[in-house]
Amino acid sequence: MLKVEGLTKHYNHHPVVDDLSFHCDAGEVLGFLGPNGAGKSTTMKMITGFVSPSGGTASICDHDIVTEGLAAKKRLGYLPEGAPCYAEMTTASFLSFIAEIRGLNSVKDSLRLDELIERLHLGPVLNQTVETLSKGFKRRVGLAQAILHDPDVLILDEPTDGLDPNQKHEVRELIRSMSAEKLIVISTHILEEVEAVCSRAIIIAQGKILADDSTEKLAQKSPYHNAVLINVVAGENLEQVQAALRKLDSVAKTEIDLEKSTITVFSNIESNDNMDAWRDITDLANTGAISIEGLELKSGRLEDYFRQITQGTLA
Ligand SMILES: Nc1ncnc2c1ncn2[C@@H]1O[C@H](COP(=O)(O)OP(=O)(O)O)[C@@H](O)[C@H]1O
Ligand SMILES: [Mg+2]
Repeated sequence: MLKVEGLTKHYNHHPVVDDLSFHCDAGEVLGFLGPNGAGKSTTMKMITGFVSPSGGTASICDHDIVTEGLAAKKRLGYLPEGAPCYAEMTTASFLSFIAEIRGLNSVKDSLRLDELIERLHLGPVLNQTVETLSKGFKRRVGLAQAILHDPDVLILDEPTDGLDPNQKHEVRELIRSMSAEKLIVISTHILEEVEAVCSRAIIIAQGKILADDSTEKLAQKSPYHNAVLINVVAGENLEQVQAALRKLDSVAKTEIDLEKSTITVFSNIESNDNMDAWRDITDLANTGAISIEGLELKSGRLEDYFRQITQGTLA
């Protein structure tokens, strides 16, 4: 549904998007992640035909975005960054205008528009001009125009930016409810959002792809995946416990959290699980050498991996 091949954009002779290639299909919610300035918005502007590429191509449902722009855009819904709606129009006239240029004029279409207005709680601001709306309302008007024609491919640039926690939750629910038949690409730097709605994530920095995998696999690449978290009995000397742990062959590294009275143990054995370290720690506890309250095998979080690979690349 979306094919991106060697997509590149130069500004001032400098590549801000550098030879990106990826494919994705219906049913996927792709998180497009990266630090500020990584090139997420520029990539989305090229994919949606708003900015022309310096090199490479993108196609939507097999329509090249440059040479078959109109056909591609028919299949596409796009929520740009910020809130670039027509500011002087009212919400109602803006949405009717979008419906008209999208060729939506049946009774069914107008029912769909009503349903969308209700779902996004736009009722109270229908007669208010877009420029006078709060950021959260502007964002939701933008979202309404992007999904009005029920597009196959939906490109959403930071869809929950500026929304309060309840609105964020609702928009995530909306994205999830639409995801089965569509391809949805969302850019964000809110990693919990990615874990909540995305099936796959592409992490970019300085215009290049650093990682592209299922969100589950990426979380497993976190240094904390399969690390053992030890809750040490309160009042124990953490440094002494740490020294005892360090003597274990299976333990490579330890991390102390004095406030929480925990020690995280990283195994030096490259295996799928950390059972060697786990067993050695329980053995040690059973001999009475260390006093612990509990152990937990960590699953690892996308955020840890994101920080690991994007550190030093911040703009
Ligand atoms: N029109 C432009 N002219 C010059 N530089 C630009 C332009 N648009 C974006 N950039 C630069 O390209 C880089 C990527 O920007 P952007 O795609 O907005 O990143 P992101 O959305 O990941 O934060 C930034 O360094 C930004 O300053
Ligand atoms: Mg951006």
